[in-house]
Amino acid sequence: MSGENIKIGLLGLGTVGRGVYRIITGNPDNIKRKVGAGVEIKKILEKDTAKLRELGIDPGKQTIRIEDIINDPEIKIVVEVLGGIDPTLDYVSRALLSGKSVVTANKDMIAVHGKHLFDLSVANRADLLFEASVAGGIPIIRPLKQCLAANRIIQVIGIINGTTNYMLTKMTEEGSDFADVLREAQAKGYAESDPTADIEGYDAARKLAILASIAFNSRIVLDDVYVEGITKITAADIAYASELNYIVKLLSIAKETVDGIEVRVHPTLIPRNHPLATVNDVYNAIYVTGDAVGDTMFYGRGAGELPTASAVVSDIMDAARNLLHNVPGIISCTCYEDKLVKDMGTTEGKYYVRLNATDKPGVLASIAYALGDKEVSLASVLQKHTDGNNAEIVLVTHKVREKNMQEALEIIKQLSSVNEVANIIRVEGE
Ligand code: NAP
Ligand code: HSE
Repeated sequence: MSGENIKIGLLGLGTVGRGVYRIITGNPDNIKRKVGAGVEIKKILEKDTAKLRELGIDPGKQTIRIEDIINDPEIKIVVEVLGGIDPTLDYVSRALLSGKSVVTANKDMIAVHGKHLFDLSVANRADLLFEASVAGGIPIIRPLKQCLAANRIIQVIGIINGTTNYMLTKMTEEGSDFADVLREAQAKGYAESDPTADIEGYDAARKLAILASIAFNSRIVLDDVYVEGITKITAADIAYASELNYIVKLLSIAKETVDGIEVRVHPTLIPRNHPLATVNDVYNAIYVTGDAVGDTMFYGRGAGELPTASAVVSDIMDAARNLLHNVPGIISCTCYEDKLVKDMGTTEGKYYVRLNATDKPGVLASIAYALGDKEVSLASVLQKHTDGNNAEIVLVTHKVREKNMQEALEIIKQLSSVNEVANIIRVEGE
């Protein structure tokens, strides 16, 4: 075992940074034995002195100048838990340029600037590790890159946003409305005061871009991902889904098909007996299918101080071990192919459609005709809430091309007997 500790520069002492500090200082022997050397936080980039005081950290470790970390030759690993892109991308780029290994939890940065950072890590023979960037404490990056490396990955389907999973769970269990559960999620500290990235699906889309890049060995960026959030999901949709034996989840779906890669985030009806249907509250899960292993599922806490720091510190230990054996960067970027990302219109699936129409003879026939004209075949039909003049109709289709479905819906919207197409939700997992 090496006598000298491997020195770390920690950028940020917020929620995750605090957890990283606690784990590293909480059980140093465990780390030392597993790595072969101890790891030690030498400097912390943080403006707020109170955050260091709260943890009893020597104020001499604090700095507000990134140069104190980048230019310190003793610091071999930079741990970035600041968040955001500016100035973070610059800090991380400079760390890699100076040959330091980087561990980050920053999905925003990796989903958009992953290629740039990987090029720097390869050129400078430094590790770039980001296990915590997707699904917090759940091991998924390393399993995809290493443990499942023997497989051709067929699909990755995840519940990778805890806030929206909590909201949909509450709406399902209590029949509550979207606005009420959002307020509750904010009060509990799950949803941010500006919850846009979570409820509009962008947080999940960033994570999916990272997972798909690794699963299919081809760079997928945020702009490649089709994104739809959960803001249009109502208590009525959830109740109808339940009647049809489905659960509504915000799924992040990446599939490799013969004509390209599908990457999409959207609310989805999944059968009640699907393994992902039982993933509730703030929990995350990722369902991975490989050609050799078959179906697997990774489940756990997708956020929070210690779960996220668990992934960060494990990455630190990997980077430290690689430094000790002089093999930093040994497992680097795995995007060695350039695959086509499919246009959403060319994807295929089943659809749930809820619409309001006049309750008179021939209405259902005119809707069925519009669907049939675009080769959309119906699997089931529910008609409810007739008030004498109007009816709510819920349709579930068989598998059809998205483009055909959208064209059929455009025709249906023009029918004089149809008041409103209230919602369309994709169906998966059958
Ligand atoms: P956070 O609580 O806001 O902590 C960030 C810390 O960095 C704050 O103390 C902040 O100080 C400091 N900071 C930001 N910019 C700085 C700068 N330019 N110079 C010096 N200090 C700066 O955030 P977090 O929740 O720990 O998240 C950190 C990263 O982990 C993000 O990329 C996030 O997406 C990712 N992540 C978080 C979780 C989670 O559960 N929280 C889960 C998975 C991934 P001020 O407050 O003074 O600005
Ligand atoms: N806002 C994220 C979520 C947590 O709700 O899952 C950090 O990735």
